[in-house]
Amino acid sequence: MSDNSYTRVTFFSGENVPLEMHKARMVQRIHLISAQERLSVLTQTGNNTFLLPNRDVFLDMLTDSGVNAMSEVQYAAMLMADDSYAGSETFYRLEKTIQDFFGTQFFLPAHQGRACENILASSYVTAETPTVITNYHFTTTKAHILLRGGQVLEAISDAGLSTQSDLPFKGDYDLDKLDALVRGAGGPGKIAFARIEAGTNLIGGQPVSLGNMREVSAYCRKNGLLLVFDASLLADNLYFIKTREEECRRRSLTEIVREIASLMDVIYFSGRKLGCARGGGICTSNRKEYMRMRDLVPLYEGFLTYGGMSVREMEAMAVGIRETLDIHNISQTPLFVEALGQELQAKGVPVVTPFGGLGCHVDASRFIPQVPQEQYPAAALCSAIYLVSGVRGMERGTLSESRNPDGSEHLSNMELVRLAVPKRVFTHSQLKFAADRIGWLHENRDLIGGLAFEDEPRTLRFFLGRLKPIGDWQRRLVEKFVQDMPSGL
Ligand code: F0G
Repeated sequence: MSDNSYTRVTFFSGENVPLEMHKARMVQRIHLISAQERLSVLTQTGNNTFLLPNRDVFLDMLTDSGVNAMSEVQYAAMLMADDSYAGSETFYRLEKTIQDFFGTQFFLPAHQGRACENILASSYVTAETPTVITNYHFTTTKAHILLRGGQVLEAISDAGLSTQSDLPFKGDYDLDKLDALVRGAGGPGKIAFARIEAGTNLIGGQPVSLGNMREVSAYCRKNGLLLVFDASLLADNLYFIKTREEECRRRSLTEIVREIASLMDVIYFSGRKLGCARGGGICTSNRKEYMRMRDLVPLYEGFLTYGGMSVREMEAMAVGIRETLDIHNISQTPLFVEALGQELQAKGVPVVTPFGGLGCHVDASRFIPQVPQEQYPAAALCSAIYLVSGVRGMERGTLSESRNPDGSEHLSNMELVRLAVPKRVFTHSQLKFAADRIGWLHENRDLIGGLAFEDEPRTLRFFLGRLKPIGDWQRRLVEKFVQDMPSGL
């Protein structure tokens, strides 16, 4: 299935257009309501894009989680599912697929990525080993570790925290930082595990190089640290390893995945991302680690042969994981992110560079420097983007952090609005529309103000929190939009 000779189809004219390597045979009608209607919906939903109903959203760029377009082969496989509490053939097919894909021996099913994180944190984060070191944290990962009294330390390279860069692997660990953190935490004996997150989500979907994974793995093995790999965003990361890491250009995707897996002790993933279905799982070849986690699956998830997943999703995931080895499958998100990023850049909109996977990330700190971090600039920009376009993005900034134990704000390293590009869902013209409206917003950025909480949940507050604009900037923004675009659309 995979073809190693080329990774993208280029145009003779030299124009950079991301070419779809699939055709759409089923479509869903979407609706574009007016800016005045959007203002009313946004007000009712507490200025939180998580709370918007789909009927009022034009382009749903909240996430790629569980919303990538599935292939016809995935749908066909769903009809073959063997429904059974125990011993389902579907499970054995999925287990075999995962063994072939990663080359690992044991597989524990779970209902999604954070369920794997719950099992990992329950198994390894203890009073004696409270520390997890990671390239960068992810919201749910961190929440599970904190819940058990642990702490998360980050060893991301300095370049990873710069929004403007041309470094190809900003998700890489800084090995010196890793060593300093291990010592500072009291030595390897105090560390629950080290974690590498593929396609580092919160810094803009930035990949980790195979070379860096080798170094981190060597360090962990030398120091007796367990190395856990979050493979949720492996598909995008794999594309970047293949295209940006010289020694990998001639290697097959299978070979690369197998080498990555051989460097890790435990691998987990969200099947809502990897495999373009729903569900998740934990893989390892180490019997001791497998046994340490195994009994938690029937407790939290479901019996060992389904782990909280429906058999249909397991079949779709198995096919989706195999399809990850097709370069023209895994190229789609990175190429569309790049196209959207270039459109935005051409309009002067500040975006995270280099373009990563997952989505295009708009830098709210540079877009609206007038809004202080305490007024959630990324959330404010996210609400403004919805008002002028009907595009639903996701705040990835201070709002997505938890408060410090003393109640003060934990200001985020970056204030980003993520415009996720789920695989094979949007067309090029839809991305151009998003860029056009965000370009308008950029020209009118002085009108944007901040947000304040009306109702703030204690954990993962970004999911369900409700906010209100500080002043009446949203009404004035919509007024100006309607002046320039009289249809209000
Ligand atoms: N790890 C990473 C890197 C993720 O991006 C996610 C989810 C998870 C773990 C948790 O997986 O959602 O299946 O429980 N990311 C989603 C997102 C929510 O929108 O980026 P889950």
